[in-house]
Amino acid sequence: MILITSAAGQTGTRIIRLLVARGAAVRGFVQSEASADKVRALGAQAFRGDLRDAQALGDAMRGVERLYHIAPTLSFREHEMGRGVVDAAVRAGLRHFVLHGVMAPYLQNINYHFAKELIQWDLYRSGLPYTVMLPTNYMQNVNWTWPTIVERGEWQLPYDPERRLTWVDLDDLAEAAANVLTEPDHAYGTYELCGSNSFLSRVEIARLMSNALGREVRAVKVPVEAYLDACRRMPFFSRMRTEELDQIRAMFTDYDEYGMPAGNAKVLSMLLGRPASSYAQFLQRLAEAWRKGAGAGGSALTHYGLPSLD
Ligand SMILES: NC(=O)c1ccc[n+]([C@@H]2O[C@H](COP(=O)([O-])OP(=O)(O)OC[C@H]3O[C@@H](n4cnc5c(N)ncnc54)[C@H](OP(=O)(O)O)[C@@H]3O)[C@@H](O)[C@H]2O)c1
Repeated sequence: MILITSAAGQTGTRIIRLLVARGAAVRGFVQSEASADKVRALGAQAFRGDLRDAQALGDAMRGVERLYHIAPTLSFREHEMGRGVVDAAVRAGLRHFVLHGVMAPYLQNINYHFAKELIQWDLYRSGLPYTVMLPTNYMQNVNWTWPTIVERGEWQLPYDPERRLTWVDLDDLAEAAANVLTEPDHAYGTYELCGSNSFLSRVEIARLMSNALGREVRAVKVPVEAYLDACRRMPFFSRMRTEELDQIRAMFTDYDEYGMPAGNAKVLSMLLGRPASSYAQFLQRLAEAWRKGAGAGGSALTHYGLPSLD
């Protein structure tokens, strides 16, 4: 049995789908009944609980051999939750703990990065066989601004369009996670994960978007406060605390100054047994899904919502 936390999110659902297709028994740790339904519809068991509840974590880990821990997006309790999951895994005697971390977890100025570094320390000291996945920015994050890109030919984000970051296709990442959970010999590995030729500026990606869409797309920098206001109006972010949303400002401030010069596609390609997808390949798929009318609900896209500064 494999337990996945934050199972109903965009990462968890993709991993569950692949594991179930391989015949693995999967249990999804979720909070709400709606999420439990989502997980059951994928062919997994659902366990409802709060990641801060030690008793619930212990109950969810009964009969479990392997675990994939994903922290909820931007939670300020991320380290507390992660430490609780590690402690429960030790008590339950799990054979393999896989942590969904983040590229450059050592960025102390961004809480959701450094919380993952702290959980890595907890795992290191736990005595558990572990693997750490360090994915860079999901290519699928472009969904946040996709309608403005398609309709206005503008990619609006609050950081310098010339700064380069690395990117990963979430579908590749899910496949690599499923491999790590079902293959032997991944214990004590820490894997930085990014796509092929993916160290790109938004100016370079906008050129790829122009090719994929057959219309000119320009990458523009918008004021960070206006961007945050737009986020606050979206259902996904509106329930977050001020400190949680502040992480978005910290993240874009860091990108604006340094980009994200971290990650190399060799690791993900090794885990997949084929070259990791490039941003150009992802965009071709996305543009095709959009043309077929899949729109914002399409499976190539994320579910966060669609902030627009209009
Ligand atoms: N986006 C990126 O580019 C990127 C890149 C690298 C790493 N990451 C990391 O990936 C993780 C997010 O993955 P995701 O986007 O797949 O997640 P997500 O879609 O935001 O899913 C979050 C899930 O967490 C559950 N949840 C929230 N609070 C909970 C609690 N107290 N107890 C139990 N469950 C709770 C929610 O369940 P309910 O619906 O039942 O409430 C929700 O389904 C984050 O740690 C992020 O830092 C993201």
